[in-house]
Amino acid sequence: MIWTLFLLGQAALLYFILTHRSRSKRDPPLDKGVIPWLGHALEFGKDAFKFLNRMKLKHGDIFTVRVAGRYVTVLLDPHSYDTVIKDSDSLDFNRYAQVLMEKMFNLRLPCHQPVKAKAIMKKYALIMHFMGLNLAALNRTMSRHLKASLTDEMPQNQKDWKEEGLFNFSYSLLFKAGYLTLFGGEPNNNSTEPSSVYDEYKKFDGLLTKLARGTLKPEERRTARSVRRRLWELLAPAGLAEDSGSSTWLQDYRRLLQEEGVNEEMQNKAVLMQLWATQGNVGPAAFWLLGYLLTNPEALAAVKREFSGISMMETSDTSSPDRPMDTPVFDSVLEETLRMTAAPFITREVVQEKTLHMADGQEYLLRKGDRVCLFPFNSPQMDPEIHHEPQKYKYDRFLNQDGSVKKDFYKAGRLLKYYTMPWGAGTNGCVGKQFAIDTIRQFVFMVLSNYDLELCDPNAQMPEVNTSHYGFGMLQPEGDLLVRYKPSKTN
Ligand code: HEM
Repeated sequence: MIWTLFLLGQAALLYFILTHRSRSKRDPPLDKGVIPWLGHALEFGKDAFKFLNRMKLKHGDIFTVRVAGRYVTVLLDPHSYDTVIKDSDSLDFNRYAQVLMEKMFNLRLPCHQPVKAKAIMKKYALIMHFMGLNLAALNRTMSRHLKASLTDEMPQNQKDWKEEGLFNFSYSLLFKAGYLTLFGGEPNNNSTEPSSVYDEYKKFDGLLTKLARGTLKPEERRTARSVRRRLWELLAPAGLAEDSGSSTWLQDYRRLLQEEGVNEEMQNKAVLMQLWATQGNVGPAAFWLLGYLLTNPEALAAVKREFSGISMMETSDTSSPDRPMDTPVFDSVLEETLRMTAAPFITREVVQEKTLHMADGQEYLLRKGDRVCLFPFNSPQMDPEIHHEPQKYKYDRFLNQDGSVKKDFYKAGRLLKYYTMPWGAGTNGCVGKQFAIDTIRQFVFMVLSNYDLELCDPNAQMPEVNTSHYGFGMLQPEGDLLVRYKPSKTN
């Protein structure tokens, strides 16, 4: 008994010595939380926005918190974001990305892979596949699949209203059309039928944040494993044969993995990760946008007015760089939607000690082995000093009085470079940004031009946010918004 107590005491002492950390003068304010090792992990995971707001009130724009044994320095001053985003020598993107890839997708790519993959992905994805003429071609394919999916859901000769949750409506249609555009497969080919991929993906999606945090219950872990396995099988043909209907982007990605010696099993895991990156955000974004329009009649009328001057042809052929689509009202509506519902973390690992120079002149030490996290949702996006009444949806927030695009926003009297950041920033920003914008514009245009869409309950409010999604890209609703739709008479 005495020995047991002695050993326990020694273990506790050793733990304390190994994990003890006190704040030096050069460190940001340190807040370890009261629970040993876990620190603030539970509160952070439950509702990161609320937690980080609380910490901001207590400590200011920069502080270090303990989260499940790691120390994370959170920076919330957008004027200082570039000091993190632009320093890839001291602050590494790949290490934490690899941790997440392994937890979420069971994916381990060769160590040298991410750097080269990134370089080539950027080259192909940015310069070739999601730009210029290739983007125009992708938009046309997307338009064709969107039209077919919509007609499938609701034939033009249908007379009766169809009731559905708007989140499910937007997510399923955009996912299926996006899947067919990028990953190929035929709508009626059983093995890769987009509906079965969507059904499996939705189950996976519901468990993703817990997978990333390692908080699945045993039953959920079993489900996650079997759904993931099923998705790997479904995705196995994607991007392999040139006549499979998959995009040249995916074919090039496959080829790159093969050149790197990645085996087939690991390739399928990597393709699932790409499915998540390319399909996981567009549907939820379109849901929030349509939801805000339906609950803000003035905004809906303004978008319809703008769309009435545009033909369907134009919306699906928008990407010629010399002829960008001129829809300032829709652009403002989308920007405002993403301001309120896009909430990614931008995380880096400190690989060598760094002095962080804040815009206000303060300097802090970032310690090697810690992580740095920016949360633009907190600031600039929901910062009342930058956006007046940030909780309120204002469709014209990003329009000047003369109807032109508004880009001038200020904090502490200084013009901001980053006044919203839904797409991330720097070398790890979203490569599919323009394709995503064009897709959402096409979808909203098609729905509003061809269908009568309305709330089942005219007084319904937007559903609450699922707070466990903060940090993982687009937010998702808790519940859904019930709508009804039918082909409009003017068709
Ligand atoms: C509303 C829709 C979308 C939003 C809000 C969004 C947002 C983001 C963000 C914040 C990142 C950075 C993630 C990080 O730092 O780790 C990212 C990365 C990425 N996005 Fe998007 N995205 C959207 C749609 C798309 C679409 C449609 C595609 C392609 C078809 C796409 C392709 C990618 C890829 C490939 C990456 C990884 C880039 C890299 O390797 O660093 N995204 N996206």
